[in-house]
Order: sequence, then C-alpha cells, then structure tokens
Amino acid sequence: MYPLLLFFFISGIKGLSVVSTGNVLFDKVVVPAGCVIPRDVDNIARAALLQQCISPSKGKKLDEERCFGELGCFPMKSPWTSNLRPFPQPMTPDEIQPQLIFYSRDNPEVGQVVQVWPNISTNGLKFDPKRPYTTFMTHGFASNCNTTWIQHLKDNYLKQRDANVFLVDWNKGANLLNYLQVASNTRVVGAAVSRFVKYLREEKGVKPGQIHLIGHSLGSHISSYVAKSNPKISVLTALDPAQPGFEGSPAAVRLDKSDAEFVEVVHTSGRPFIPLLGFGFITTVGHVDFYFNGGALQPKCKIPPFDSVNITSISDLVLVPVEVLSEWVGCSHNLAHEYYSEAILTGNNNCSFVARKTGAVEHLSNTFSAGYANKLTNPILSRIGDCDAEKCSIFGLDIYRYPTIGKFTINTNSDPPFCLLEVDRQKSLAKAVSEREQNKASQTDSKSVNLTETSTGAPNATTTVKSILSPVKNVFSKVKSFI
Ligand SMILES: *[C@@H]1O[C@H](CO)[C@@H](O)[C@H](O)[C@H]1NC(C)=O
Ligand SMILES: *[C@@H]1O[C@H](CO)[C@@H](O)[C@H](O)[C@H]1NC(C)=O
Ligand SMILES: *[C@@H]1O[C@H](CO)[C@@H](O)[C@H](O)[C@H]1NC(C)=O
Ligand SMILES: *[C@@H]1O[C@H](CO)[C@@H](O)[C@H](O)[C@H]1NC(C)=O
Ligand SMILES: *[C@@H]1O[C@H](CO)[C@@H](O)[C@H](O)[C@H]1NC(C)=O
Ligand SMILES: *[C@@H]1O[C@H](CO)[C@@H](O)[C@H](O)[C@H]1NC(C)=O
Repeated sequence: MYPLLLFFFISGIKGLSVVSTGNVLFDKVVVPAGCVIPRDVDNIARAALLQQCISPSKGKKLDEERCFGELGCFPMKSPWTSNLRPFPQPMTPDEIQPQLIFYSRDNPEVGQVVQVWPNISTNGLKFDPKRPYTTFMTHGFASNCNTTWIQHLKDNYLKQRDANVFLVDWNKGANLLNYLQVASNTRVVGAAVSRFVKYLREEKGVKPGQIHLIGHSLGSHISSYVAKSNPKISVLTALDPAQPGFEGSPAAVRLDKSDAEFVEVVHTSGRPFIPLLGFGFITTVGHVDFYFNGGALQPKCKIPPFDSVNITSISDLVLVPVEVLSEWVGCSHNLAHEYYSEAILTGNNNCSFVARKTGAVEHLSNTFSAGYANKLTNPILSRIGDCDAEKCSIFGLDIYRYPTIGKFTINTNSDPPFCLLEVDRQKSLAKAVSEREQNKASQTDSKSVNLTETSTGAPNATTTVKSILSPVKNVFSKVKSFI
C-alpha cells in the first residue's frame, strides 16, 4: 500500500522530474543522473537516492574490512553495504570515542563517565547489579548526552524505576554532516556497548532479563546491535528508528523484532508526505508498533512553505531553506522521545496515551491527516468505544505487560502535555491487565518478559472533561494543498 501511496504523492507534485528507466542500476543511473529520481524504484530506494544526492560520499566505498581489537571486524560486503546502504567504512573507535555516562538514584544528576574503549573500567562506579533494571539510552544523528531530551528522559525514568542508567555517548561519531558516515559508525558504537553489556553479564552477574535498551533514531539500530549480540534482552524501545539505509535491508543489519524478547517501536516521521524526506521507519518492525498521529507528521510541526517555491526536481529542495527542511523533518522525528519521556510519567499524571489497535483504512486516513481524521470522525468512539486489554494498550513503561501486539494508533495534543485525558480508561485497562496477570500466574510460571516491578500505580485523579478537538493548526488543508 505504501509504495502506491508514495507514487501518488510523487506524481502529484507539480513537475517533479521523473524519468522512466528499465532496470535501475544504482551506480549507472542515479549518480550520473544528477539526482533525478527514476520512476520505477520504490519508496525505500528513493530514500537511498536522496542520500546519494546530499551525501559527499556519493556511494564510494572501500571493500577492505577493518578490525578493531576486541570489538571485532567490520566487513563491508553485503548485507553491510548494498544499493540501499551505500555506506563508507565506519570510523575507528579511537575517532568515535564511545563512552557511557552512568546515573542512578544515588547520583541522579551528576553522571559518572565510564570508558569502554580501549579498556573497560568500572572502578568507583555507583553501579549495583541488584537494582531491578539496567538501562541504556542511546542518542542518534547529530546529538549527544548533554541534550535536554536525553537528560530529561533519564530523570523521568529514574523517578519511576530504581535503575542503573547508562547514557551512550558517541557524539564524535554522530556530529558529522555526512549521514551515511554517521549511520556506518553505529556498528562500531554497537560493538563497544555490546562488549560492555557482556562484561556486565560475566563480571557483575547482570541478567539479560534486567536489561532495557532505549534508542532514538540511529540509536535504535545501535540498541539493535547490542541486543543481537546479547540474546534474551527483555525490552528494546526504538524511538522513531532511522530509516535511510536500514528500512528494506536484511534484519541482520537493522532493528528487528527478533532482537529482544519484546521490541516496541514508536513511529513519528515516516515520510509519505514529502517523498524522501522523513527519517523514520514506515513499516512495522517490532512486536508492537505505535503510529503517533498517523506516524508521519506530528501536529506540533510546521509544514515548510512549499507554495513559495516551484519544486520541479528533487534538487529544487535546496531552494527551501535548510533550517526549514531540517526543522520540519527533525521536528516530527524528535517528538518520538518527547512523547516517550512524558509517557514514562503516566500514572503520576492525570492523563495517558491510550493506544488502540488499528486497521489499514483507519491507519491511512490518520496518516493523511496527521491524526486529525481520527479525532474528527471518531471522537465519541475513541472515548467510550470498545477498548479492552485485548484491543488497547497504554503507552509507557509497561507496554510489554499488555497482551495485545501489532499495530497501534495514538493521537496526541499538539503541544505538551501531549497525552489526551483518558484516566478512567487507563485505570480500567491497568486493572484488567493486573487481573489477567494474576490469573496467568496461577496457571503458569513462565513468562517470556521478566521485568517484575511495575511502574505505574493506577492514577487517581478525576477525568477532566476536555474537548478532544483541542485548538490546532489546520494541518489537514495544508497537506491537501500540497498534495
Ligand atoms: C588496556 O589493558 C591492557 C591489558 O590489560 C593493557 O596492557 C593496556 O595498557 C591497557 N590500555 C590502557 C589505555 O589502559
Ligand atoms: C557534556 O557536559 C560535560 C560537563 O559539562 C562536558 O565535560 C562534556 O564535554 C559535554 N559533552 C559534550 C558532547 O558536549
Ligand atoms: C512558479 O512558477 C509559476 C509559473 O511558472 C510562476 O508564475 C511563479 O512566479 C513561480 N513562483 C516562484 C516563487 O518562483
Ligand atoms: C491533575 O489535575 C489536578 C486537577 O485538575 C491538578 O490540580 C494537578 O496539578 C494535576 N496533576 C498533574 C500531575 O498534572
Ligand atoms: C524472573 O525473575 C524472578 C525474580 O527476580 C527470578 O526468580 C526468575 O528466575 C526470573 N526468571 C527468568 C526466566 O529469568
Ligand atoms: C493517589 O494514590 C496514592 C497511592 O495510591 C496516594 O498516596 C495519594 O494520596 C493519592 N492521591 C490523591 C490525590 O488521591
């Protein structure tokens, strides 16, 4: 359905250069074509094409594999590179200087730096393997561990859980203009963190069932590499996993639901609206996939002024100021961690993120309208409609406890607090799930996910009556005129 949809969007853009070629060969067609997009490639290939156009590497790659001591070797052959992954070699660990910043309830504000390369040292660390959780939070492209969002996420997490929290800092490998180089570097960062997790298991007795990995953007794939080399990690939370170079590639090189016992994925910037210019995965890739406001465009984010520019080929996107484009793409992409950070406190707050299983048609209309279709057509149903523990889930730390898996839709307010006020529903769902777990526990002892401490108490505030149609920008009409 998506390629078709994409084609519709692309054909609809006035005058976008589209050439028809027979059998598209990436190097033969794309590079010489100077960034003209062939008609017969799908949406995923289109994303790779754009990366070719904007990246200095232009798909040049060296075939030799490099080895970095205990981190192992990094081959450049398929599936690590391909037409969809025209990646250069990763930088060396000496260049990237991956490190961890450790926090716990004993040091919630002042982090302790943990070196993981070349040698691991945990002397003087306030780490305690008896804490029920050991959690890794990994940033993505062009970010670092001092950013407000990851600090905020860590603070909220420690409020809810007695955890060893490691922030994975790889800023020297992430703050480069060349996305392809940064994406390639994720392998080395993944290997460094994997080695550290093995160390915690072997030397400190940490169980994979205690480990929770959280990653944003490219950090989702780093988390994936860590999980792939440390089997049976309990939960992997992927916040808008980066798409270019990963979606459409074999599971060995990207996030996949086989990585951990439970993989939960947030989608906020898939790209149906502006072809090629979204950062996030479009397709489902976890046990549960949450599409926020349709998963493509978030209501808080402004649409660039395309009316004022005549886009006749993809290269005309340079006419749109780069701040506007990156603000637009980055805005939806970054809301993934804002939503999660807020949802972690669900249970302390008065409202919550109710996720409901979604069908294809509903999902499409929601995507087209950035979430407004649901709010407009379904305000009553979405409040009192059938929403039991088999059909709904509460987005937050306890997602893995809900029995239902699959594709979910969540609508939000356009500004914080993003959660819609559905306290009563959350209360009854949480109760249903607890009862279910008790029944289950009496029947059988085996449960694949072994995080025992629950993080949410049922909230006890009264529901505030509030129009589900909060004041919003008229995104729908703008999207329509763009199409
Ligand atoms: C790392 O450990 C090895 C072996 O224990 C040691 O020889 C080397 O000097 C250490 N390197 C650093 C930078 O501390
Ligand atoms: C983060 O902040 C610490 C303490 O101020 C500083 O030492 C470190 O260099 C900063 N890291 C980055 C990537 O800016
Ligand atoms: C876009 O193209 C139309 C028709 O060719 C022209 O009238 C208009 O001025 C152009 N707009 C801009 C912003 O260049
Ligand atoms: C919950 O709602 C009550 C009443 O509207 C308000 O006083 C309180 O500050 C709210 N609590 C939070 C955490 O938002
Ligand atoms: C789950 O956790 C409980 C309590 O910590 C422990 O006794 C049990 O062995 C764990 N089960 C698995 C499969 O790890
Ligand atoms: C909410 O519940 C908690 C524990 O169940 C209790 O300590 C607290 O006083 C309650 N708050 C209100 C406003 O009822």
